[in-house]
Amino acid sequence: MLSVVVHIQRSRTSSVALKLLMAVTGVVLVLFLFAHLAGNLKIFVGADAFDHYAHWLRTIGTPLLPQAWYLWIQRTVLTGAVLGHVAAATILARRARKARPVRYAHRPAVQGSYAARTMRWGGVIVLLFVVYHLLDLTTGTLNPVGDAAHPYANVVADFALDRWYVTLCYTLAVVAVGVHLRHGIFSAARTLGQQTDHGERQARAAASVLSAVLVVGYLSVPFAVLTGLVS
Ligand code: HEM
Repeated sequence: MLSVVVHIQRSRTSSVALKLLMAVTGVVLVLFLFAHLAGNLKIFVGADAFDHYAHWLRTIGTPLLPQAWYLWIQRTVLTGAVLGHVAAATILARRARKARPVRYAHRPAVQGSYAARTMRWGGVIVLLFVVYHLLDLTTGTLNPVGDAAHPYANVVADFALDRWYVTLCYTLAVVAVGVHLRHGIFSAARTLGQQTDHGERQARAAASVLSAVLVVGYLSVPFAVLTGLVS
């Protein structure tokens, strides 16, 4: 991965192309987040609906595709999108640093929005969360139940009151996702051609609304378990 990054950085791949790669891979990841949220909200319908949905995920495309192939195609696309997103971000950040080899002696106290200044570390936190989350709810390794056939039971066990620190961890991660997305969606709109003042205001508003929907939607699940609404 590092050698690919160094190779592209030295090549003449234009910064516009890299920003386009960031925007397109970002859109793919946001689409996944909305689809995943829709699936998670099935938990409010009940255990059978949620477990059935998880089972259905493994049968999409059958009998044309063998069992679970769709899931592996989706995983491959998502992994490619994450790698492309991180590689483009790394190269663009290195180029920006090279263009200004001497750091500002006095960094202005306010430089861009909070979200803009935290994109890199926000992204790293989200990535670390995804690794933890996969070990928790996909492989079940870190989950108290860890039963692949019963994801409803896994989720309920995860966010039990005495495991409040798990809910805290998910909350921090989901808020980090929201902050990252708010700036990301806005930047992607600019890269994909939005240029007017009016469009900028609309893009900012859309980015805020979409991020808020995701944050509230995702957090509704752990807090519903924590408060006993889902049990
Ligand atoms: C509180 C919020 C969340 C809950 C309750 C939740 C729940 C789940 C569950 C139950 C699964 C396993 C599905 C299955 O294999 O049947 C899963 C998988 C996954 N989740 Fe989440 N999730 C949450 C937030 C997130 C966030 C914020 C992200 C991304 C930043 C994310 C990314 C993923 C990924 C990549 C998978 C693996 C999908 C696959 O098997 O290919 N999740 N999640």
